[in-house]
Amino acid sequence: MIGCARDRIEVRAAIDAGGPEPAGWDVETAAAGTNADCCRKRRLVIMRVSSYDAWIVAAAPLSCPVRGCERPLHRAEKTVVCARGHAFDIARSGYINLLQPADRHSRHAGDSKEAVQSRARLAAAGVGDGVLAQVADRITTFLPGDHGIVVDLGCGSGEALDAVSRRREITGIGIDLSSHAADYAARRFPALTWIVANADRRLPVLTGSADLIMSLNGRRNPEECARALKAEGYLLVSVPGPDDLVELRERVQGTSIERDRGTSVLADHSGSFELIEKMSLRQRQGLARESLLDLLRGTYRGRRTSQSAAVQGLDGLEVTLAQEVMVFKVR
Ligand SMILES: C[S@@+](CC[C@H](N)C(=O)[O-])C[C@H]1O[C@@H](n2cnc3c(N)ncnc32)[C@H](O)[C@@H]1O
Ligand SMILES: [Zn+2]
Repeated sequence: MIGCARDRIEVRAAIDAGGPEPAGWDVETAAAGTNADCCRKRRLVIMRVSSYDAWIVAAAPLSCPVRGCERPLHRAEKTVVCARGHAFDIARSGYINLLQPADRHSRHAGDSKEAVQSRARLAAAGVGDGVLAQVADRITTFLPGDHGIVVDLGCGSGEALDAVSRRREITGIGIDLSSHAADYAARRFPALTWIVANADRRLPVLTGSADLIMSLNGRRNPEECARALKAEGYLLVSVPGPDDLVELRERVQGTSIERDRGTSVLADHSGSFELIEKMSLRQRQGLARESLLDLLRGTYRGRRTSQSAAVQGLDGLEVTLAQEVMVFKVR
């Protein structure tokens, strides 16, 4: 189903483009599943958009994941299809599985249902919301004034992309290897596009189409990001700061070693990108035992029962949540 927020975006993009009806577009299909107000706007889109490709880009610039094809994907009822007829089902919850058999394998398996649920509970409890708000605010300053295309690599349960979409009209594409994550995000945030794919391989995004790609403790793929971004696009990478969860690590691991992840991010991106901004964001938050357990499940994947046992003995703990945020521009 196509949501109202996206309709508004498409209407505006269509008016900007100002052209004839795109060949092959079916009015009734376009209107299906939208409310009456959106249907009226849809007809406006159909009258004004200049080309079918322009419409696709305004919607979600997805590309076919079949190796060597890579043509634009467009929606057709319950699937997305390319011009060569490669078709991919849209799940009942709304996410699209573009994972090709050859791309299934990853050194990092996608998150389990349990990890996704833990992370979603943390977001619902407001854990880290101060840092997330600052990241989302900053992202909007790198987007075009009217409407931006934003891709989130390793989007998890989708709260970050949603936070951006609440601040600015965007076409948001969240990519995660975990179907549990995509399913959760699609149910929760239906106006955004949620994709199951391996972000370490070719991204299912059209070349030169994204205004901003973000990776928040997620996957990084500099070459593919450089390909998928517009010439004036930005890449925002955020990794845990050296003192992130230092108090929790002290309790459960008996050590609070501060690890610098930023340096390797800079090195990985130096070939294709130029660093334009680096920020350290942090907040301190008192967390109840349940949230601490969710942090273990979501962050350390609940690997060690000894760690959970250490948290069970706590009523709560004040922790530091810290992120190192780097913003890059394509060279
Ligand atoms: C630490 S979580 C971060 C989630 C989210 N960005 C956030 O900040 O809350 C990492 C996410 O990357 C996903 N992931 C792991 N390997 C991946 C891959 N190869 N391609 C896409 N997503 C992947 C996991 O399923 C998980 O949702
Ligand atoms: Zn194809």
